[in-house]
Amino acid sequence: CMVRHYKFNVVMKNTSRLCSTKPIVTVNGKFPGPTIVAREDDTVLVKVVNHVKYNVSIHWHGVRQLRTGWADGPAYITQCPIQPGQVYMYNFTLTGQRGTLLWHAHILWLRATVHGAIVILPKRGVPYPFPKPHKEAIVVLGEWWKSDVEAVINEATKSGLAPNVSDAHTINGYPGPVSGCSTQGGFTLPVRPGKTYMLRIINAALNEELFFKIAGHKLTVVEVDATYTKPFPTDTVLIAPGQTTNVLLTANHGSGKYLVAVSPFMDAPIAVDNVTATATLHYSGTLADASTTLTNPPPQNATPVATNFTDSLRSLNSNLYPAKVPLKIDRSLFFTIGLGVNPCSTCVNGSRVVADINNVTFVMPTVSLLQAHFFNISGVFTDDFPGNPPNQFNYTGTPLTNFQTETGTKLYRLPYNSTVQLVLQDTGMIAPENHPIHLHGFNFFAVGRGFGNFNPKKDPKKFNLVDPVERNTIGVPSGGWSAIRFRADNPGVWFMHCHLEVHTTWGLKMAFVVDNGKGPSESLLPPPSDLPKC
Ligand code: C2O
Repeated sequence: CMVRHYKFNVVMKNTSRLCSTKPIVTVNGKFPGPTIVAREDDTVLVKVVNHVKYNVSIHWHGVRQLRTGWADGPAYITQCPIQPGQVYMYNFTLTGQRGTLLWHAHILWLRATVHGAIVILPKRGVPYPFPKPHKEAIVVLGEWWKSDVEAVINEATKSGLAPNVSDAHTINGYPGPVSGCSTQGGFTLPVRPGKTYMLRIINAALNEELFFKIAGHKLTVVEVDATYTKPFPTDTVLIAPGQTTNVLLTANHGSGKYLVAVSPFMDAPIAVDNVTATATLHYSGTLADASTTLTNPPPQNATPVATNFTDSLRSLNSNLYPAKVPLKIDRSLFFTIGLGVNPCSTCVNGSRVVADINNVTFVMPTVSLLQAHFFNISGVFTDDFPGNPPNQFNYTGTPLTNFQTETGTKLYRLPYNSTVQLVLQDTGMIAPENHPIHLHGFNFFAVGRGFGNFNPKKDPKKFNLVDPVERNTIGVPSGGWSAIRFRADNPGVWFMHCHLEVHTTWGLKMAFVVDNGKGPSESLLPPPSDLPKC
């Protein structure tokens, strides 16, 4: 195995999109940022140097970080932020992982422009469990705001209202021509007739689940969140913020140009950036001014398309890559997730939108939770996060008891190596909306999913315990539920939150503390000497 060295200079860079220019926070001046390439079991060292006025931290989304929680990255959860002028060396090993993941800033809304791909190749000599593609391409999906992104969220926090939505979606940094600004070309993917390509699709957008489609071509899904899947063909890929999807694309036309379309999925009538981003699949030999074969993206509320895609995902579950689904469960948890309102005297409506898990709106601490845990610093968090909702939940009604939330920095304590079943139930209290829930430090199996209220008697009988898809970010359907299972085999403090950044800001987050009971220092490695201080 190798050690791979990277240097991330966090710098401002004037960047032009949608016919206007603004300074954005970048890594090494690039949007999207540089790609990390490594092999399974390699060690990765990333030296992050902060040259901007903001505090910074970087998260390696989906990297397990076995015993190395200090390198996970969420600010105030596993580390204090890297302050302006400071340096931190992230040091982690890609134990037993291969596939596509992403890295992104994990503080403020810097993720909007501070993100990039992580490509983990199989160990040398180990083939993919599918035919080797002719070439691979990274496809990073994102969002673009014409105004300063930090100003957008600061304004919303002050007013208590929802922040402005983005002005466009992007494909590898470019929206493609949009109305009002048709000059800027989009991303072009060159292909040769008859060849097969693997696209590593990453949703790095802040707030939008996205559909991805290519005119005239089927896509075969082979991997999600760096775990192999049973291959299945589809016209449309659904991908939530934080998720990654590898697809095979066979260039089975002789020539031509074909539209790549990226559009939002949101099955509730709320504000959403509904601009379709476009790129072009360009067959070799086709004239640049040839007309492009178009495609219609699914409508914004295409829940059947989304459900059909999600229900088709299965673990590969082969001899080499078995699905190790926990069958016996030590902890059974039930979390409601949703939006609510809390009183706010300085806000525009006298109230502010908040989000919660089990009616707790998470309050960020001012020193990192992992440090507080490791060094036994009291008064930073409590470990009384409720394992069940405080009030009887009923999705079909609107009980006001579920509407208001309490605040706190509450963690849920899991015994080391215990097996956990967690049912995530969307409450849809204000606007029904999907929530892509991301768990740090673990992969989990998505064993069940449904609409309406979870039925603890009937629904578990239908769980897939054989080949459920394994991932790190799961879309909890609007007005429905998702059930996941995992083994708490990673000591530390692990964040879990909605990967729609606006919901994280509103408090849709909590953390697990995983401890072997013999004292955290026996299981978690000690912090590196350059760990940032608060
Ligand atoms: Cu990709 Cu805590 O996030």
